[in-house]
Amino acid sequence: MAKIVLGMGTSHGPMLSTPPDKWDSRVPFDKAHKAHPFRGQTYSYDQLVDLRASDDLAKEITQDKWNARYAACRAAITKLADVYAQVKPDIAVIVGNDQKEVFTDKLMPAFTVFRGETLLNVPMSDEQKSKLGPGVAIATPGYMTPQLAQYPGVPDLADHITRHLMANQFDVAVSSELPEGPRGHGVPHAFGFIYRQIMRDQPIPTVPLFVNTFYPPNQPSAKRCFDFGAQLKSAIESWPTDKTVAIFASGGLTHFVIDEALDQRVLAGMQARDIESLTTIPENLFQDGTSELKNWIPVAGAMTSLGLDMHLVDYVPCYRSPAGTGNAMGFAYWR
Ligand SMILES: [Fe+2]
Repeated sequence: MAKIVLGMGTSHGPMLSTPPDKWDSRVPFDKAHKAHPFRGQTYSYDQLVDLRASDDLAKEITQDKWNARYAACRAAITKLADVYAQVKPDIAVIVGNDQKEVFTDKLMPAFTVFRGETLLNVPMSDEQKSKLGPGVAIATPGYMTPQLAQYPGVPDLADHITRHLMANQFDVAVSSELPEGPRGHGVPHAFGFIYRQIMRDQPIPTVPLFVNTFYPPNQPSAKRCFDFGAQLKSAIESWPTDKTVAIFASGGLTHFVIDEALDQRVLAGMQARDIESLTTIPENLFQDGTSELKNWIPVAGAMTSLGLDMHLVDYVPCYRSPAGTGNAMGFAYWR
């Protein structure tokens, strides 16, 4: 039977692939966006500045601090990529989300198993890049290849996972070819980041699992995500093969408004295998980019069920404005 030999979680946000002297390039977006979800309510940028006045965020918004934060993130990514290279799994399962890169309001499945032979990483034209929001284009090499890239899927394992999930209360969608989005049928950034920055452009056969973390009204709850992970673990371990498997979580932690208390609750819950704490976080906290914590919870479910210990490589809250906007980055592995 297949053996799970590694679990890994990494943030994938644009600030990881943006030189720190350009970290403020996304602030115009923060100011223009009128409804930032934060702790169950929504706020404008100016309201957040008032709300967080006592958090003394000014000390976070200096070039020296940004340089140090960026260096810490890059060191953590290097560490994860080194651990991955050392473990050398045969097959990867990546739990990630789509941000309307392939799924749209026309069809938005809650959970999707990709069962195709091949995945594509499709570059954007310069014209397409020019239409991205402020501060996004500069970070695209972090997840997008300069040329069309093809990655192998694992249809056998994908169908085995699907059958197991269907027999255990998870009625998932399947996809043999990703729907066509703005970048053709290319993989979303959550997946591209793992291929580029953790696998260092040397992809192994992969089953991508999509969780609709972002878009109401069919976001799976934290409890469902945890249970999904436990079933995913059983599915992989009952796949008749002698191959080794790594499971990745891509995304988070809290953003675009950083909430360190929520990050610490999730990290501590995963480390202590505190299922109750992880699965009772109020659902209204999982909105916007912060919802990507739900890519980590299935991996936590699998690893808890497996009994592997979590090693926290780093937690780096990368603030970019006095409103507390930015992206808190998390890096961890289980083995
Ligand atoms: Fe994302």
